[in-house]
Amino acid sequence: MIRPSKILIVDDTPDTVMFLADRLAGQGYAVVTASSGVEALEQVEKEQPDLVLLDVLMPEMSGYEVCRQIRENPATHLLPVVLLTALNPSEERVKGIEAGADDFLTKPANQAELLARVRSLLRIKDLHDQVQAQTAQLAEWNKELEARLLQEARVAEVARALGDIGHDMKNLLTPVLMGAGLLQSELEDLVGSLPQGQGSTGESSRKRCQEVIDMVRENARRLQDQVRELADCVKGLSSPPHFAPCAVAEVVTSVIKTLRILAEEKGLSLHTEGLEALPPIQADERRLFSAFYNLINNAIPEVPAGGSVTVRGRTESEGKAVIVSVTDTGRGMPVDVRERLFTSRVMSRKAGGTGLGTKIVKDMVEVHGGAITVESEEGVGTTFHISLPIDGPKQAAVESS
Ligand SMILES: Nc1ncnc2c1ncn2[C@@H]1O[C@H](COP(=O)(O)OP(=O)(O)OP(=O)(O)O)[C@@H](O)[C@H]1O
Ligand SMILES: [Mg+2]
Repeated sequence: MIRPSKILIVDDTPDTVMFLADRLAGQGYAVVTASSGVEALEQVEKEQPDLVLLDVLMPEMSGYEVCRQIRENPATHLLPVVLLTALNPSEERVKGIEAGADDFLTKPANQAELLARVRSLLRIKDLHDQVQAQTAQLAEWNKELEARLLQEARVAEVARALGDIGHDMKNLLTPVLMGAGLLQSELEDLVGSLPQGQGSTGESSRKRCQEVIDMVRENARRLQDQVRELADCVKGLSSPPHFAPCAVAEVVTSVIKTLRILAEEKGLSLHTEGLEALPPIQADERRLFSAFYNLINNAIPEVPAGGSVTVRGRTESEGKAVIVSVTDTGRGMPVDVRERLFTSRVMSRKAGGTGLGTKIVKDMVEVHGGAITVESEEGVGTTFHISLPIDGPKQAAVESS
């Protein structure tokens, strides 16, 4: 329901107040009254009228003074004020204009003129209220726009920093790869120059060094791929998954080679079972590597010395998917950590941990149209089960990814 406009009538003569109140209430206006200047100012503050009909001649505080105070108050400086005067109209008008009045009526007020002036001033007030509301709305929108621009500037800054980091990483990887190549030839020279008879110690040490060199080279190459993907991303190019026939056993072996030194330092063993028997699957090799890397890398710090991490593979009963499980003999996860895995509320229990590791695993599984579940018992261990369709995701899923 539309609120009726409220008019404050101020006059020290009760008959005049009653006369005006009757006329205006009869036209549907809400009416409030005051019989002195002081009361008028109190009513303005309390009732917040839309217009004031104000007698000029009143004891103690004149209508001019009331009008001046209404104008001086920022909350009411635009409130329409009509002065009612029985005095010399032209002389009164000058004083009234100086006091800030909007209009004048000569007493006794002609009813038609009174209503016409009231309507006209209320219309102007209404328009002014609308302008003020729109100005406030515009200020609000402006604030939101500024916040969004600030946010976008921050995102652009992060993208720029990532681009710079990627660039430096790419440059730093070149000497790492060159260094590994150099180590390789130094190793061969060294082994060649060893006196005969030190064969078996020399050979096992050479094999060990060779494994480390291969691991450094392979992972530097993987990092280069990721840096390239980062650069594409910064340039605004998405990097869609690349599906090709992939041997899970090779990917997992490559992950195990990378993490073996870490596991050995902690006194753990890493095993595989049944992976060689799996059929090749349509998969994105880089994403697969990253997922298994994260799962095994997560398990290692949780497993006490003497424990193990085992990756097992089998083909699902209908022969449409492979199921690969990563099982550890670690400390397991409490329910709250387990329930939050794979959601945006992943909890990291590590200093400097981001909770991104399990999200990467889940993203890989989704991109491949597979599924992931976890079983974990505190003090016993944890197993992640991943099922991946042998023929890769359905065409629609590939196109939408
Ligand atoms: N095999 C596991 N055994 C016990 N807890 C695990 C295991 N795998 C994951 N978790 C728990 O899940 C949490 C989330 O793992 P996630 O890989 O998402 O993040 P993070 O490893 O903590 O951080 P980041 O990946 O950045 O190093 C880990 O902090 C850990 O508490
Ligand atoms: Mg992790």
